[in-house]
Amino acid sequence: MKKRLIFAAMVKEVVLSGIRPTGFLHLGNYFGAMRNYVRMQDEFNCYFFVANWHSLTTHPDTKELQANVLRVIAENIACGLDPEKVALYVQSDVPQIAELYLYLNMMAYKGELEKTVTFKEKVRLQPENVNAGLLTYPVLQAADILIHRAVKVPVGKDQEQHLEMARNYAERFNHRYGEILPLPYAFNYGGELVKIMSLDGEGKMSKSENQMNTLYLADDDDVIRKKIMKAKTDGGPLTPNAPMPAYIENLFTLMGLVSSTDTVEKFRSDYNNSSEGNCIIRYGDLKKQLAEDMAAFIKPIREKATDLQKDTATLQKIMKMGAEKAGESASKTLTLVRSAIGMNYY
Ligand code: TYM
Repeated sequence: MKKRLIFAAMVKEVVLSGIRPTGFLHLGNYFGAMRNYVRMQDEFNCYFFVANWHSLTTHPDTKELQANVLRVIAENIACGLDPEKVALYVQSDVPQIAELYLYLNMMAYKGELEKTVTFKEKVRLQPENVNAGLLTYPVLQAADILIHRAVKVPVGKDQEQHLEMARNYAERFNHRYGEILPLPYAFNYGGELVKIMSLDGEGKMSKSENQMNTLYLADDDDVIRKKIMKAKTDGGPLTPNAPMPAYIENLFTLMGLVSSTDTVEKFRSDYNNSSEGNCIIRYGDLKKQLAEDMAAFIKPIREKATDLQKDTATLQKIMKMGAEKAGESASKTLTLVRSAIGMNYY
C-alpha cells in the first residue's frame, strides 16, 4: 500500500495543449495558454503541439503552412518552453491521433457537433467551405488530448466547450469499452480561464481577424506603440469613481499583465479621483505607459523567436525529438484502446 502511494506521488499528471498554425501568435495565445505551459513544464509531464491538421479545416491553402509551423515552434520556445523538458511536436507527425479520432467519431453525434459555438462561428465566416473536418473539429481535439490520457489542458476561455465535449467522448468510450480514458479539464493557474479582448474592445484578439487591434508576439516596438495609441478611449470620466467602460477596463487589464503594480495603481487612482472638479486621468499618458511596458514585454520574445527561426535544422531536430516522445505515449494509449474495442487480432 505504502509503495503504491509513493509510486502515485512520483507519476506526474499529464498535460497537453495545442495551437493552430493559422497566423502569428498574439497576447491572447500567450496569456490564455502559453504562460501556463511554461509554468507547468516543471511540475507535470507535458505535451505541447502545433495543430496543423486542425488548420486545414479553415485554411486549405497550405502555401504558408510550413513557415507558420516553424514560427509557432520557435515562438513557443521563445516564450520559455524547454524542448528537453516537454514534448514539443507537430500533430501530423503523430498519426496515432488520427486513428483515435476515427474511433471517437463514433462517440460524437451530428446534432451536438452542429450546436458547437466555434462550428456555428466558422459556418458564418466561411459558408462556402462547411467541410466535415470543420464539423468534427472537437473530435480531433479530443483525440489530441486523450491520446496521451492528459488530465490538465491549459487553454483560454474560448476552448471551454471543446473540453466539455472531450470529456463526453471519453465518458462514452469508457462506458462502452471500459475505463481507459481519464477525463480532461481546462486549466489556468489562478482558476478562471482567460479571454484577452482586442484593443477596440470588440471581440477577442485573434490570429487572423482584426489584426490592427491585436498585439502579436512578432510586432516591433513601433507597431506596438501605434496600435496602442490608436486604441479606443473617450473624453474621460466626468466624476470620481465613475463606472469604467469596457474598452478602458481592457486597457487596465492589459496594463495589469505587463506593467508594475505601482503603475497600475497610479492610473487606477487617477481614474477614480478628481482635482478641482476635473478628472485626473489622461488616457494619452495611460496609453503611452502601456505602449512602453508592452514593447518591453514583447521585445525579448520577438528577438528570441526571430533568432530561432534562422536555424531551421535545430527546429526540425526539436520537432523530431518531440514527435518521438509523443509517439511513444500515443502508441501506449492506442494499444489499450484497440484491445478494449477488440481490435487486437494477433
Ligand atoms: P488556438 O490556436 O486558437 O489558440 C491557442 C491557445 O490560445 C488561446 N487563445 C486565447 N486565450 C485568451 N484570449 C484570447 N484572445 C485567445 N485567443 C486564443 C486558446 O484558448 C488556446 O488555448 N482548438 C485549439 C487548438 C487545439 C487544442 C487541441 C488545444 C487543437 N487541439 C487540444 C488544446 C488541446 C485552438 O484553436 O487554439
